[in-house]
Amino acid sequence: MKPTPKTFHVKSFGCQMNVYDGERMGELMAAQGMTATDDANAADLVVLNTCHIREKATEKVYSDIGRLRKHGRTPMIAVAGCVAQAEGEEIVRRAKVDVVVGPQAYHNLPDLVRDAAAGTAALDTDMPALSKFGALPARRKVSPGAFLTVQEGCDKFCTYCVVPYTRGAEISRPFDAIVDEAKALVDAGAREITLLGQNVNAWDDDAATGLHGLIRALDRIDGLHRIRYTTSHPNDMRDGLIRAHAEVEKLMPFLHLPVQAGSDRILKAMNRSHTRDSYLRLLERVRAARTDIALSGDFIVGFPGETEADFAETLSLVDAVGYAQCFSFKYSPRAGTPAADMADQIAPEVMDERLQRLQGALNRDQAAFNAATLGKSCTVLIERKGKLPGQMLGKSPWLQSVHLTTNAQIGDLVEVDIVRADPNSLAGVERVKIAA
Ligand code: SAH
Ligand code: SF4
Ligand code: F3S
Repeated sequence: MKPTPKTFHVKSFGCQMNVYDGERMGELMAAQGMTATDDANAADLVVLNTCHIREKATEKVYSDIGRLRKHGRTPMIAVAGCVAQAEGEEIVRRAKVDVVVGPQAYHNLPDLVRDAAAGTAALDTDMPALSKFGALPARRKVSPGAFLTVQEGCDKFCTYCVVPYTRGAEISRPFDAIVDEAKALVDAGAREITLLGQNVNAWDDDAATGLHGLIRALDRIDGLHRIRYTTSHPNDMRDGLIRAHAEVEKLMPFLHLPVQAGSDRILKAMNRSHTRDSYLRLLERVRAARTDIALSGDFIVGFPGETEADFAETLSLVDAVGYAQCFSFKYSPRAGTPAADMADQIAPEVMDERLQRLQGALNRDQAAFNAATLGKSCTVLIERKGKLPGQMLGKSPWLQSVHLTTNAQIGDLVEVDIVRADPNSLAGVERVKIAA
């Protein structure tokens, strides 16, 4: 038995969907009368909203639990997110946490916290499709750049990946529920909405066919200035969505389209169901629709069986695309996925060396992309204060961080001339404030 918590702290790891889920869990607890605190070491209840994607991410949960219990403190600990889904009771056994709740069941968190306070086992990793969304409280106050989950789950089963098991099958939230939530977000302070999904471009509903239909509906919401979406799968990139990049002004010129590897042999072993060539041709069509689009991707190095020749094809794909920014990872074998049992696992030092070479190429291209924006003018959505007095930080349409000195407030859009370009950020000078 533990006292019913009065204060809580939510810590989210992993992808943007976890950030969204973390915010919604916070809203649930606040609706129960609990108070949020920024200090995990002072909170009565700590929710660890976890990620299972790579081994390191999973191990972090256990080290975090240890840290929370330092100095004899015994806060109530709830493990949420993808590790909760994947490991369930094992976490209770291994770390004696109070609550375990999966990504599709977190609307039950307040009940589970009550059970834990009463000394009853509190574990819920059920996966009812969609039911959590209807049970969540209304959006109240959000940051100017808000996230909105529209699609969840994955049916693609790439051979390295745990997501189809932790998030379940692909489902699309209904059109009306999304549009209502988008309007509520704008009323709560959002100026930009990023539509989220594990395969967001697979979103579909009879009321608006395809993600582009949804984007066109959001385009009509007054007070919403920018629309983004992530993460997309190459096989779900329809013509209508590509056309939207040419036609919908609020849709920002940015596309995150993971490819993972440049060799067809490896793509096949990964079960990616696209080829190097089909991916490159797709990007050509996207660039034809929106010439200034910033492209982004994800890469895995050291997938089982990856030879030096395969890896060279990844490097040559990077050269061919010229990405604005990317994420790249060493392959991490995940129990229960087919790739974990494949022959020819790659030695860690080979992976280290390939990752370094890949990141060298990606950093070079990111610096070149940033340098190419020097002298341009663009809008910046102000998101937070900078370190220096009067300095504010925001994002360009191409998702670059921009800092500038301005009287503009968080949530304002300012027109900026880019006067300096560094590898990781830009400096701007304000022209005119165009909207608040
Ligand atoms: N649904 C998205 C992203 C899923 S996870 C997509 O398919 O693009 C985000 C990224 O983590 C993946 O794109 C991949 O690059 C990486 N990733 C997934 N499983 C991994 C593993 N076992 N080892 C290393 N990286 C992995
Ligand atoms: Fe994982 Fe592949 Fe699904 Fe992305 S598409 S979530 S990498 S299985
Ligand atoms: Fe991690 Fe789950 Fe997101 S495994 S990347 S938190 S979908």
